[in-house]
Amino acid sequence: MKSGENKPAFYGDLKFMVAPGVYAPAEDTFLIADNLDVRAGEEVLEIGTGCGILAISAAKAGAKVVATDSNPAAVACAKENAKLNGVGGKIDFRLGNLFEPVAWKAFDLVIFNPPYLPASGELEGDSIGLACEGGRDGTAVISPFLKSLPRHLRKGGRAIFLLSSFSKSDECLKELSRLGFEFETKKEKLSFEELVLVKARMAE
Ligand SMILES: C[S@@+](CC[C@H](N)C(=O)[O-])C[C@H]1O[C@@H](n2cnc3c(N)ncnc32)[C@H](O)[C@@H]1O
Repeated sequence: MKSGENKPAFYGDLKFMVAPGVYAPAEDTFLIADNLDVRAGEEVLEIGTGCGILAISAAKAGAKVVATDSNPAAVACAKENAKLNGVGGKIDFRLGNLFEPVAWKAFDLVIFNPPYLPASGELEGDSIGLACEGGRDGTAVISPFLKSLPRHLRKGGRAIFLLSSFSKSDECLKELSRLGFEFETKKEKLSFEELVLVKARMAE
């Protein structure tokens, strides 16, 4: 257990408590949240839920949500935040790596704000390092995510996720095309990087 105190975070009418060792919502989170296109009744998977902000937003929009994280502190924190925002019974939280917690299940929408920074070496083994850093070139988590994505989407299913100028975004988009997805991107320049929001759709 990490020492320290919970910190508050806000998105619209939603309030979150971010536990020590859990990723605090930032520009990348809000770029996805502002572009979440969730329909009532859809089955949604969020991978890497952190404090739960995206899963909770999807549940508030009427989706049936499964939210996962490989960090036990994040799963516990997101569960508490779901209760705080009145959707405690509407999200199924699971601990584990990428798609492992959902076995072979397919969804209408998969959401992921992945760790995409190239590893600095300073945060190795730290839960915030695991939230932000994707191995030597930033793609260690995104690459296996993309490979497994097709078998976890229904026909016509969608994915919303982030890439960064730090994590070979052009190569990842080529891989997405090779896997048979159509997609659109929205770019946002930050002081030190460019975020690339990807909205992808599986062919019918
Ligand atoms: C950048 S944070 C995003 C958190 C939250 N979704 C948000 O947007 O604020 C990435 C999250 O993914 C989790 N994560 C990292 N690698 C993962 C993996 N292989 N499988 C599942 N979750 C992972 C981290 O623990 C962290 O909570």
